[in-house]
Amino acid sequence: MQSIRMSSSAAAVAEKDDVAVAQNNYKIIQEVGNFEETQAQRPDFDHSEPIEVTKSPFPQWKYGDGVPDNGASLAQQHHEIDPYAADRPMINNYRLLVSGIAPRPIGFVSTVSSEGQKNLSPFSYFQVLDHDPPMFIVGFSSRPGRVKDTYRNIKETGECVINTVSENMIEAVNATSIDAPYGVSEWDVSGLHEAPSTTVKPSRVAESVFSIEGKVVDIKEFSDHQQPGMSIAANVLIKATRFWVKEGTANADYSHIDLEKLRPIGQLGGVSYGRISSTFERPRKKWDQEVPSSELLTKLDATKPNVK
Ligand SMILES: Cc1cc2nc3c(=O)[nH]c(=O)nc-3n(C[C@H](O)[C@H](O)[C@H](O)COP(=O)(O)O)c2cc1C
Repeated sequence: MQSIRMSSSAAAVAEKDDVAVAQNNYKIIQEVGNFEETQAQRPDFDHSEPIEVTKSPFPQWKYGDGVPDNGASLAQQHHEIDPYAADRPMINNYRLLVSGIAPRPIGFVSTVSSEGQKNLSPFSYFQVLDHDPPMFIVGFSSRPGRVKDTYRNIKETGECVINTVSENMIEAVNATSIDAPYGVSEWDVSGLHEAPSTTVKPSRVAESVFSIEGKVVDIKEFSDHQQPGMSIAANVLIKATRFWVKEGTANADYSHIDLEKLRPIGQLGGVSYGRISSTFERPRKKWDQEVPSSELLTKLDATKPNVK
């Protein structure tokens, strides 16, 4: 039987062509025109703005009230989208998700390659998943050519430090998202400072209020979804091995970080970030304590199946 395999050099050329085409179609980084000019028209960032605590949106809300806005939030129909439709560009899913799932916290991830090269980059496909054990997830998107350096390092070594991002860090953090060549350290690009870790090799970010040393528990790569010329996308599950909380930002037993000190930044759609300038509270209730004072809950309680 005749072999239909390409020679390795022909395969390399085809791969290079695929990367060039993928690069041409890759429009994740949004064009912002003359950003300096746009920004000059805007008011200054108020560093001294306190975080105000207000009432909740509908303080008189009762069980069964839904959204008490006279049906305004039900007035429009929804538009159905198949994210995999042939005529649906990937970039539309990207823009939809980052604008629709917002604000997202930023996991500022420090890694080291197996040869000791340092890397520091922000990821907002990031979340804490549990506290017992303390678990985290980071999503690495595909891009033309090579995988993200952070993913490469995490896969090689199984280690990272996840650092929080406060308002005063955002210019430096945003700068680390630059597509620096492999081996160029974003610590130098950003001017942020390293602090030593205990259970993993990568450094912590000294400026961060909260840092989490962690080890990889699982990696899921989406090879069935990989496009020609694009690197593989992967989700990485990380288990914490150490916490570090900046002194003066938490209570005495380090069980609560002060929001005024954390000043977290959320990533929004496009190139927007948001700050928290106002909060409100809603207590969480227990069914047995609430039933006696609510007609609706009393009725619902009477319908519960008799389970042993
Ligand atoms: C705030 C912010 C959040 C980001 N979130 C992600 C993300 O969740 N996943 C991802 O793959 N890239 C994300 N990026 C882009 C990466 O930071 C960027 O590709 C970076 O160059 C990767 O660096 P590395 O190759 O050194 O790992 C984000 C960029 C910014 C500025």
